[in-house]
Amino acid sequence: MTQLSPILSTNIEKAVNCLRQSDTVCILTGAGISAESGIPTFRDKQTGLWENYRAEDLANAGAFERDPNLVWSWYQWRRNLVKDKQPNPAHHALARWQQAWQQQNKAELTLITQNVDDLHEQAGSIATHLHGHLWKNRCSKCDAIYDMPIDYTDAQLIHCPHCQGFIRPDIVWFGEGLPVDEWLHAKLSARTCQVFITIGTSSIVYPAAGLVDLAKYSPYQAKIIEINPNPTDNPMVDIQIQAKAGEALPQLVNQLLSE
Ligand code: OAD
Repeated sequence: MTQLSPILSTNIEKAVNCLRQSDTVCILTGAGISAESGIPTFRDKQTGLWENYRAEDLANAGAFERDPNLVWSWYQWRRNLVKDKQPNPAHHALARWQQAWQQQNKAELTLITQNVDDLHEQAGSIATHLHGHLWKNRCSKCDAIYDMPIDYTDAQLIHCPHCQGFIRPDIVWFGEGLPVDEWLHAKLSARTCQVFITIGTSSIVYPAAGLVDLAKYSPYQAKIIEINPNPTDNPMVDIQIQAKAGEALPQLVNQLLSE
């Protein structure tokens, strides 16, 4: 395991002490938690064929309306990029923590993610996905679920067997609303938690970025912990763990679960 700097060790210890006194914890993850699995984050510069495009301009409802071929082929490319990726030590640590608390019936850990990959599930966690799923598809016109096998190497658009509309990934794009049940669950968890942890998110995309405010200003006045090698300038953060998730989380979870 990596040797941590004294300041990092102190902050992890502070986080562990805070978590030991809590019954309800809500965690929000973003693209940074999958970075060590080899999946580029959203604000990383894109490479190869896509180096002249920004992810925000492609993960976008307007872009699909204007040029469905372009957006579909980008997602097929992303699927190829993600398909062999494996959970990293951060995903595994969170899964171990969630399972341990569930088995001990000790405290509640709710995991909310903005990621569309399934690395939390592959590691054994139960996660609520606010921005949809990379591996699911639906019709852009009649909304019917499309569950036929898809060849990810084929960039050709697929048509809906019911209405001939274009099939699209079941992902929430800029300009679209979040799935209702998932969003209600996330808001409730944020409002009722005693500790709220953000991991690997730039916290600039709303409404997900607003969950931290709900937690901080709830009657429980949650303590806010941030794990990010490039800290955000959010003044609400109480404990800053400036490290990669794959380095900090295994240490944090080991200490927390070793009582
Ligand atoms: P971003 O790409 O905006 O931010 C990733 C964050 O992860 C940055 O703050 C990095 O510093 C941090 N990071 C990088 N490597 C890390 C590591 N090893 N451990 C921990 N943190 C690390 O991604 P999100 O915040 O997830 O939405 O972006 C939010 C949403 O905006 C996405 O879900 C997507 C996007 O555009 C939609 O597509 C709707």
